[in-house]
Amino acid sequence: MNKMLYNNRIMERENLINIEDRGYQFGDGIYEVIGVYDGKPLMLDEHLERLERSAGEVKLSLPGTIVDLKSKLEELVAANGLQEGIIYMQVSRGSAARWHEFPASDVSPVTVAYTRAEERMSEIEDQGATAVLTEDIRWLRCDIKTLNLLPNVLAKQKAVENNAIEAILHRGDLVTEASASNVFIVKDGELFTHPANNFILNGITRKKVLQLCDGLGVKVNEKTYTVKDMLEADEVFITATKLDVVPILKIDDRTIGTGEPGKMTRQVLQAFRTLY
Ligand SMILES: Cc1ncc(COP(=O)(O)O)c(C=O)c1O
Repeated sequence: MNKMLYNNRIMERENLINIEDRGYQFGDGIYEVIGVYDGKPLMLDEHLERLERSAGEVKLSLPGTIVDLKSKLEELVAANGLQEGIIYMQVSRGSAARWHEFPASDVSPVTVAYTRAEERMSEIEDQGATAVLTEDIRWLRCDIKTLNLLPNVLAKQKAVENNAIEAILHRGDLVTEASASNVFIVKDGELFTHPANNFILNGITRKKVLQLCDGLGVKVNEKTYTVKDMLEADEVFITATKLDVVPILKIDDRTIGTGEPGKMTRQVLQAFRTLY
């Protein structure tokens, strides 16, 4: 795992961070995390499409083309001999003297990527996990995958301190998503998930689950729902890269449904596993 991508070069991994990199100082950059299964990045085109969108939304011009970036990431996976794990990649607005406004146009964005070996999460996906609830204190452009993750970090820490896998976020009464995953609920045989607007990140796993549900004939409602709806749902599950589909059996002290992974959640998980 000791090769990294630095701009357009695959090289030995080393610490090349400039202390005036805007990603480091302002969180001024965007990122993606891509799952790797059996040596192949899953849904790489979709992740790169989202990266391009995030770049556009923060007015950052990506250096080079997406086609080149795709082949570099594939080369990185091969160079590291990665079979199971993730690719982390980010593009910051570059390094320049620290002033809030964008730097002069001759400053180039900095792209870095590395891989990390990770086991599959099959056990937790089969058995389910617990979550906690916490207020969503993030900004109003959660649809952009930016490096600014402090509210997500604080929420996830709360989950971990409560032996939970995730912190499910709500703005007032409405559930948005979780600190690093999207949330679905099942009620009376139908699926509900927050619409893909500025309040959530439109997860690549979420989008794939919606497509799979279409094929399975499961009715999905991209509609907001309340914390009460979620606590009274028959099933709750979360989706994210590498976690795929994880049943949520308990939220704070409240058991969801029967307290076991539900039928629809298992059906969606099974369908998702056919992708790799
Ligand atoms: C806030 C947030 N929502 C949802 C997701 C799930 O997105 P994806 O399925 O693309 O991993 C993530 C992933 O990290 C996330 O950080």
